[in-house]
Amino acid sequence: MKAPAVRLSSGRKLPLIALGTAGIPYHSQQIQTSISLALKIGYRHFDTAKIYGSEPAIGKALNEAFDEGIVKREEVFVTSKLWCSDHHDPGAALKRTLHNLKLEYLDLYLVHWPVRFKEGVCYAVPKEDDFERLDMEQTWHAMEKCVELGLCHSIGISNFSSKKIEDLLSHASIPPAVNQVELHPLWRQHKLREFCAERKIHLSAYSPLGGPGSPWGSKAVIKNPTIVSIAHKHQRTPAQIALRWALESGVSVVAKSFNEERMQENWGVSDWVLDAEDHCKINDLSQMKFMRGDFLVNNTTSPYKTIEELWDGEI
Ligand SMILES: NC(=O)c1ccc[n+]([C@@H]2O[C@H](COP(=O)([O-])OP(=O)(O)OC[C@H]3O[C@@H](n4cnc5c(N)ncnc54)[C@H](OP(=O)(O)O)[C@@H]3O)[C@@H](O)[C@H]2O)c1
Repeated sequence: MKAPAVRLSSGRKLPLIALGTAGIPYHSQQIQTSISLALKIGYRHFDTAKIYGSEPAIGKALNEAFDEGIVKREEVFVTSKLWCSDHHDPGAALKRTLHNLKLEYLDLYLVHWPVRFKEGVCYAVPKEDDFERLDMEQTWHAMEKCVELGLCHSIGISNFSSKKIEDLLSHASIPPAVNQVELHPLWRQHKLREFCAERKIHLSAYSPLGGPGSPWGSKAVIKNPTIVSIAHKHQRTPAQIALRWALESGVSVVAKSFNEERMQENWGVSDWVLDAEDHCKINDLSQMKFMRGDFLVNNTTSPYKTIEELWDGEI
């Protein structure tokens, strides 16, 4: 099956089903094997970030596939992200990412969080004195420069609220093509979906299964009785219902699996549909957010003193 895709405001096409590669911590060979397997299944979009440590293994697997003629570079879409300690020089950070991936360009480069750390802070959970003031105008200008230099085709953001996007749009020459955020049947992001759709910013769902098995996630989505009953009705799995619901909500999905059966399962969500009743039932589920970002909030050095400030009330 060909990967379904959406055209971004940048003019580029983004494959709607991506393979996530975050997790703690995977052996490089395991990532490489999973990427090769994913390519065979049909995946053409790979999501990584400097902080995941998966860039080199993805690069090895992709370059092997290019050399063996399995796919061409222009047939795959690679997303990576600017880590919070690299806002002082996004161009240099992107060049390091490209070096890790052994690629000449990225398809999509995202600002990982609307937060800036001191240079060299290469861990996910910052200490209190690791924060610096974020000048998003300066960061975005440097991201735009990356497009001009041909280092990436599209630029975007991740974990940005409607308010933060509005601020960004007030000075951006190139608008963000994508906002990657947590989104699943229990965290539906209705307001952000409408806001982004009106501004032609494509919304991409991370943790679309709720991250079962990951340290920040939960099994609440795939164990939810409503999701389970919809799955029985369609003779699908709960994970497939979550992914199908996101796709039908106009959102692309970044689901992580390094297990062949589950990679196949997550890939198999393009040739069947949910009905209006399923959507109504999902829209009635109580909401819960798993990636709350508490680690980015403190009373002293973080620009965000509360969780509400980090998400501008969208929590
Ligand atoms: N921008 C950001 O700030 C941000 C934050 C978080 C994540 N992300 C990206 O989004 C990707 C996905 O998010 P995530 O890893 O948090 O959550 P997720 O994709 O919702 O869930 C991944 C977990 O679910 C398991 N799984 C996968 N398919 C399954 C299925 N069909 N049935 C049951 N369990 C299944 C996986 O284990 P197995 O591998 O054993 O199958 C893994 O433990 C990440 O890998 C990363 O690329 C971005």
